[in-house]
Amino acid sequence: MTSAGTSVVHARAPGKINVFLKVGAVLEDGYHDLATAYQAVSLFEEVRATPASDFSVEFSGSIDTSGLATDGSNLAIKAARALARKTGYRGGVHLEIEKNVPIAGGMGGGSADAAATLLACDALWATGATKDELLAIAAELGADVPFSFTGGTAIGTGRGDRLSPALAKGKFQWVLALADFGMSTPGVFQELDRHRDRHAQDIYPAQHQPSVDANVLQALRAGDPHMLADALHNDLQAPALHLAPGLGKVLQLGEENGALAGILSGSGPTVAFLVADADSALELQVALSASRLRVVRATGPVHGARLI
Ligand code: C5P
Repeated sequence: MTSAGTSVVHARAPGKINVFLKVGAVLEDGYHDLATAYQAVSLFEEVRATPASDFSVEFSGSIDTSGLATDGSNLAIKAARALARKTGYRGGVHLEIEKNVPIAGGMGGGSADAAATLLACDALWATGATKDELLAIAAELGADVPFSFTGGTAIGTGRGDRLSPALAKGKFQWVLALADFGMSTPGVFQELDRHRDRHAQDIYPAQHQPSVDANVLQALRAGDPHMLADALHNDLQAPALHLAPGLGKVLQLGEENGALAGILSGSGPTVAFLVADADSALELQVALSASRLRVVRATGPVHGARLI
């Protein structure tokens, strides 16, 4: 329990890898219809919330957070404000966020901040909101926020926010090559649209809904990294490589050094390599680090947003 003035509530939420992502038609709100398989991975954002009269955020963590906005445009602040608005809470919150998910890396770090903030503020303010109410606020904040809230393994459709759980066995091992630049998610989606326009590909008319391939679901159910490696797919990879051609070399380097397969994570620029076991993960980590890439390891699936 918390009592105003002295209490701190600590919540944690995970980053994600889209092990499969197919992008469909542009929807009326400008978002794209998509079908994705999300896996929550063991890089967590840690949010500590303390009572305050207004809304503020500060960042720390294993990565450089100096470029992050701390004003009302920050997604964590938006999350806290949205919860206060919806529940009629009249006070504010001070948020301390320890970031471990790469920033603007395509791994849902901002979404995890928002998910953990919702949970932390809900507890701090004792709002009594139901899980469905929190999920509805999460979906308004961003397409990936509901998934960070629920975690595990899930299929996302619509904007990516309509979730259904997927069966998954065991743990998958990932080696992540981080870029020293960020990529804009809208920019990568726009590049995909430009590519489709250029090639007059009207392959996703409004009535054609993308879906997740059956072999992805089968690989997740079996917990088999070799099967999953064969099934990895991301429609955003080609447009992201077009915008940042250097990522092609990173993918090649990983695949030459023991990765089962590599895939751009979300809209990038983080490249996620799936490996067979912990030994291969270590070998790949060493090889990529020797090429001066920043590398972190993660396993998935892991739980969603939680109070600590
Ligand atoms: O919801 P989120 O803020 O994560 O989305 C960032 C941007 O990515 C959107 O503004 C949109 O340009 C693009 N996007 C999209 N279709 C989706 C998800 C995201 O076009 N399903």
